[in-house]
Amino acid sequence: MTILITGGAGFIGSAFVRLCRSATDSRIVILDALTYAGNLSTLETDLKDSRVKFFPGKIQDATVVEGIIAAEGVTHIVNFAAESHNDRAMLEAGSFIQTDVYGVYILLEACRKFKIERLLHVSTDEVYGSIDVGEFTESSPIEPNTPYSASKAGGELQIRAAVKAHGIPAVVTRGGNTYGPYHFPEKLIPFFISRLIDGKKVPVYGDGTQVREWIHCEDHAGGILHALQHGKVGESYNVGDQNERTNMEVVKILLEETGRDESHIKTIPDPRRGAHDKRYSMTTDKLEALGWKPKKPFEESLRDTVRWYKDNEDWWRPLVATDDYKRFIKAFYGPTLGEDL
Ligand SMILES: NC(=O)c1ccc[n+]([C@@H]2O[C@H](COP(=O)([O-])OP(=O)(O)OC[C@H]3O[C@@H](n4cnc5c(N)ncnc54)[C@H](O)[C@@H]3O)[C@@H](O)[C@H]2O)c1
Repeated sequence: MTILITGGAGFIGSAFVRLCRSATDSRIVILDALTYAGNLSTLETDLKDSRVKFFPGKIQDATVVEGIIAAEGVTHIVNFAAESHNDRAMLEAGSFIQTDVYGVYILLEACRKFKIERLLHVSTDEVYGSIDVGEFTESSPIEPNTPYSASKAGGELQIRAAVKAHGIPAVVTRGGNTYGPYHFPEKLIPFFISRLIDGKKVPVYGDGTQVREWIHCEDHAGGILHALQHGKVGESYNVGDQNERTNMEVVKILLEETGRDESHIKTIPDPRRGAHDKRYSMTTDKLEALGWKPKKPFEESLRDTVRWYKDNEDWWRPLVATDDYKRFIKAFYGPTLGEDL
């Protein structure tokens, strides 16, 4: 296999690069636009491996995508490239449509032209929307509630149509909320860890009773590789850990592990006018029937993640010092955090 991994300089994409290097003998070609969320320092070790090549560029640039596929003899594509932050999409969603919808179309066109053997498209459980009781299965309706999840649903629907209309050999995974090392420090867990390390308050929406299902990035990457190798064309697979926690439960572990007390919690109103998804939950029976299972225990791995951020300030401090980061935090949290910003 020669795998084109798009978005490989991001959080889960880089975990997938590490997994492919250790668990397969594939050649690995990474295409990444290096947006604010992409970071070459994450790939420092990987890029020393002669099996790995990196190309900067956007998935919506057909010339770049097709040039790489032709020159490198790409046989498989795994698409992680995305604008991925729900909160940023509340401020501006145009870039999400460009990458998460139009970019997927360009990849599908390249699959047609070059007869790619398999496209694995990485999607999210957020396309299902929110569920109060029970669990989503892969046949649950797609009912996204946010501009981000709507853009991911748009990408998925194009995949579905391309499988049916053009016979593109594509498989989709829908992953749960993911945590672990190399996570850009604007997403809930690394945002809170980095703030708590600095003794700042963490903003919790409402009463913090929203439920999320957390999966470690190594398990998420493992599920994606399993679906790439064993998934059936045209099918979607949930990749989760069935490990539901309220946001407040997660925050309490982070407080403990950073040695801070509850005075560091600041509850703020939900920026989505009360529409913040209440609960995500999904079954993973379909992928487990193909022989996959997540391995990382949540609480221990979350504590390890906190320790990783304490030990790797060189990785995240430059990211939180950029003007773009400060601008986003101020625009999104300024009105509610006020002097605690
Ligand atoms: N993080 C989660 O909790 C989670 C959960 C389920 C699914 N997902 C999905 O997994 C994928 C990866 O998520 P992540 O958390 O690693 O995201 P991330 O934001 O950390 O990384 C995204 C990567 O894509 C790159 N990128 C962005 N636009 C691009 C473009 N137009 N062309 C090429 N590269 C581009 C960025 O530079 C970055 O390296 C996304 O598709 C996301 O929707 C994420």
